[in-house]
Amino acid sequence: MVLWEPGRVAAEIGGGIVFRNLPEGQRGELAKIEFGDLRKKVIGALKDPKPVDISHTVFGAVLAAQYYEVFGALGVPKEAAVYEPCVGGSVPVIVAAESYSEGRARYFTINLNKKLAAELKSKIGHLRMSITLIEDNAQRALSHLQPGRFDVACFHHAVNDILETAVSEPRGMDTTAIDWWPNERQMIEWLAEDHVSGRIEQRGKPELRHIIADAIRLVRPGGHLVFDHFNWCRFIGVDWFPWDLFYNLIPMTRRWVFEAGMPVEELKLPGADPQWWMFLRRADGGG
Ligand SMILES: C[S@@+](CC[C@H](N)C(=O)[O-])C[C@H]1O[C@@H](n2cnc3c(N)ncnc32)[C@H](O)[C@@H]1O
Repeated sequence: MVLWEPGRVAAEIGGGIVFRNLPEGQRGELAKIEFGDLRKKVIGALKDPKPVDISHTVFGAVLAAQYYEVFGALGVPKEAAVYEPCVGGSVPVIVAAESYSEGRARYFTINLNKKLAAELKSKIGHLRMSITLIEDNAQRALSHLQPGRFDVACFHHAVNDILETAVSEPRGMDTTAIDWWPNERQMIEWLAEDHVSGRIEQRGKPELRHIIADAIRLVRPGGHLVFDHFNWCRFIGVDWFPWDLFYNLIPMTRRWVFEAGMPVEELKLPGADPQWWMFLRRADGGG
């Protein structure tokens, strides 16, 4: 199956399985959109980089549908144990897991920012699956979670979060307590600075590698890791925004994983662009 055929995604988010598990407010907004228009908005939301005139309501739902279809394509078990570092306040992986498992999955996240965690709680009360939110650094995942017990680890737009946190904490920003969005520009500027100077090798790269290596230990042999990233066209030409770095976050992560000899193989899924998505399978006996 080719992933994310727009008509199928529109059906999933326009009254179908994914729609039914979205937060109530988002369901209300989607329900107002007529199917033909929804399909057009889905096509826009699936473009990379993301267009300026994107519908944000549709985009959030499309991300959930994308993960829902990825779980099917990877053959993730229906009663999956799902690990997501750095969820913040965003629900796509959670909604995908709930939809895919019909409420039978178990979901675990490790996250630092308290305000985003509170926002997340307000969006997931309607779901049936077991959800565990751990407030800690994902570098300590193995202090909280059992290795080899997870079916899939999802890094949903999380590579930048991990790098931004890694370069900002040593500069004195308490990323657990801040309002994330008004402070993110500063974090990105520091990340750009460290990338240009090469300091990202000492700060950023080690933290990301550590969190990925632990996620590989957390998934069972044959289990999967999923990474996605997307960029917004509105940042093209914006002087403080490190477009090339952000454009290449998934290829850079891929290079760091394989340079380190991590016990995984990469899978290619038809329809998914390796510039923006990466699927890894833990080797049997690896870790
Ligand atoms: C803006 S949210 C992003 C949520 C989601 N990944 C997305 O892009 O939709 C970033 C979250 O990642 C968390 N985070 C970043 N680095 C982390 C780390 N090392 N351990 C745990 N959480 C981390 C932050 O605390 C914050 O809650």
